[in-house]
Amino acid sequence: MQNRIITLDEFIIHRQKEHPVATGELTGLLRDIGVAAKIVNREVNKAGLLNILGAVGSENLHGDTVQKLDLYANEKLIECLRNSGECAGIASEENEEFIPIPSVAGKDSKYVVVMDPLDGSSNIDVNVSVGTIFGIYRRISDPNKVVTKEDFLQKGTDLVAAGYVLYGTSTILVYTTGKGVNGFTLDPTIGEFCLSHQNIQIPKRGNFYSVNQGYYLKFDVEMRRYIDHCSDENYGLRYIGSMVSDIHRILFQGGIFLYPNTRKYPHGKLRLLYECNPLGFIVEQAGGKAISCYLERILEIEPKDLHQRVTVALGSPEMVDEMKAFVEKYSTIPG
Ligand code: AHG
Repeated sequence: MQNRIITLDEFIIHRQKEHPVATGELTGLLRDIGVAAKIVNREVNKAGLLNILGAVGSENLHGDTVQKLDLYANEKLIECLRNSGECAGIASEENEEFIPIPSVAGKDSKYVVVMDPLDGSSNIDVNVSVGTIFGIYRRISDPNKVVTKEDFLQKGTDLVAAGYVLYGTSTILVYTTGKGVNGFTLDPTIGEFCLSHQNIQIPKRGNFYSVNQGYYLKFDVEMRRYIDHCSDENYGLRYIGSMVSDIHRILFQGGIFLYPNTRKYPHGKLRLLYECNPLGFIVEQAGGKAISCYLERILEIEPKDLHQRVTVALGSPEMVDEMKAFVEKYSTIPG
């Protein structure tokens, strides 16, 4: 543990200096996301006082009930990124189409952002942890023109940076630029994210598995066998229903998170672009693994659609390998 406070801003500027050719744009973008996270955090913390709890009543494009705070977080993040000057476009879980951002002060940004502004929204009105997830790609279209869908439909292996903010008992921002994973806890007394978890390494195994066991009978046989195995091994079941929170615990204590296909969600429920790729990148950077329940590496899946869903198993490397062995042994799908 370092003996003096290092703020998120200091840390990302220091990291930029390690790359002599860096222009500072990514640094600026990460800092702007940090600012947006503080604004969202402020609202999450006082949500109960502001009557922004509870559903607006409408449904988002995936059929989930939209909560007021989701909308607020979405708007705030878009606003911060729009004013940042470092972001050429946004794809958000809450918006059907991507949002092109006009250049600020004549400057053409080379980055686009994918995000789930407030993941785990069903937890909001019962005061349980929620999170923000983001991923940053270098755009591939002509930087002098408006962004295209292809800028967002990039594989997870193309991510330049990814992170999440967990609004929990304390607020923590965890991110990677592909050189390890670091965590910053918000010190509310000074309003700064301060380096609290350096070079996070996921344990090779853990004592927890995380899955919505209520859907057990709707899972394929190989997944049921693997879950039985977790139970036989006396792993504890931990499932918050907010992926950021479940992954955060696994990152520190080890374990495996699963969201397989069910009859309701034949391709899985979670979104490749907004949830699985950014969190998969972080987990891999911390030494873990992230695969689909059909054993593809998540980060290598070619996205075809902005809101594509995917099955997922991610966490401690030895536990993901173990789950893989069960799929290989019991799957009835040829291949
Ligand atoms: P939402 O943001 O719509 O509440 O979805 C949350 C996601 C993810 O964070 C969580 O792991 C999963 O959906 C929970 O889904 P189930 O309720 O189906 O288990």
